[in-house]
Amino acid sequence: MSLVATTGRARPRARLTGVGTYVPTRVLTNAELEEMVDTSDEWIVSRTGIHERHIAADDEATTDLAAAAVRDLLERTGTDPSSVDLLVVATTTPDYVFPPCAPLVGTKSGMDYVAAYDTNAVCSGFMYGIAQATGMIESGIARRAVVVGAETLSRIIDWDDRATCVLFADGAGAVMLEADEGEQGSGVMGVELGSDGSSPSDLWVPAGGTRTPRTDDTPRAESCIQMNGREVFRFATRILVESSNRLLTEAGMTIDDVDLMVAHQANERILDHASERMGIAREKVVMNLDRYGNTSSASIPLALADARDRGMLEDGAVLLMVGFGAGLTWGSVLVRWEPRS
Ligand code: COA
Repeated sequence: MSLVATTGRARPRARLTGVGTYVPTRVLTNAELEEMVDTSDEWIVSRTGIHERHIAADDEATTDLAAAAVRDLLERTGTDPSSVDLLVVATTTPDYVFPPCAPLVGTKSGMDYVAAYDTNAVCSGFMYGIAQATGMIESGIARRAVVVGAETLSRIIDWDDRATCVLFADGAGAVMLEADEGEQGSGVMGVELGSDGSSPSDLWVPAGGTRTPRTDDTPRAESCIQMNGREVFRFATRILVESSNRLLTEAGMTIDDVDLMVAHQANERILDHASERMGIAREKVVMNLDRYGNTSSASIPLALADARDRGMLEDGAVLLMVGFGAGLTWGSVLVRWEPRS
């Protein structure tokens, strides 16, 4: 349904009530990458923790992945698609420059006339999407929001660049946020968002935008992900800790109040490093990058669903979600898992 509201009513909470996912069927293993570039399974596993990843079929694009994740979410939560009034798609690999993905995903999922738009904060995009939907719900503008993280990064990977092609992959995840006049402490309890645009080339796709439009002479590598791995590693380990701590302090909580950390799945060593510095037990840190690689804005909902499937996600659990990535951007969200019964 379309979004129509007056503001100024009693302030509802934004409750996290479900998660759905989709990954393409094609699995690309480290052994296959050994045939493509000068790398080894041993190097990839020891430096990143990644064993395999999913890659979209030639006829699959981001809205196909996103719509499949949304359909999984609607099915699992028993939600009538026409009752969703806000759809946010976080992506950095849209089907087109425009239109945005979200209206197409809405139509593919049966959400006629839904308020729908894309947001792009790269690997932090899902956190920004959650923050936006929470704001819309808490201000009384939206009642039932779906936030999707979906990427077809394989289309912007330089398959000759061993430093990046082993890391990134495709996938989609979606969550439901619903208005609820529940007790204090339920729903989204806080967000911390930030950015630093002083060195964009640390992680970027140089060509294809308005500054350097793609031409017939543009080398393919210029239209693909380029990265200063060491700088990004330094940033990621620092910001994961800083953003989490700022948010916990603001919320009057400590790391001991967190049941599960669901952070962006970029690199096992980044997560190990950060969790050690934060003093959170490793069994409370969700990791599934061994099977999915770095799926940018899709990685946090994919990890959340994995935690559910592995029985790590109890009703009422306090989740600390943290995203970080190109921009540089970052975002953390503290939220209780309250699936619809
Ligand atoms: N296979 C084999 N060797 C590789 C390789 C690969 N896939 N990729 C890089 N190397 C080589 C380098 O060429 C370098 O060789 P040299 O010493 O002869 O120059 C060597 O491995 C070490 O490279 P370095 O970049 O220092 O490795 P690293 O330990 O920093 O690990 C990353 C590289 C990319 C795994 C690491 O920097 C990282 O994870 N960075 C963060 C990336 C990230 O998370 N990005 C997304 C954020 S959203």
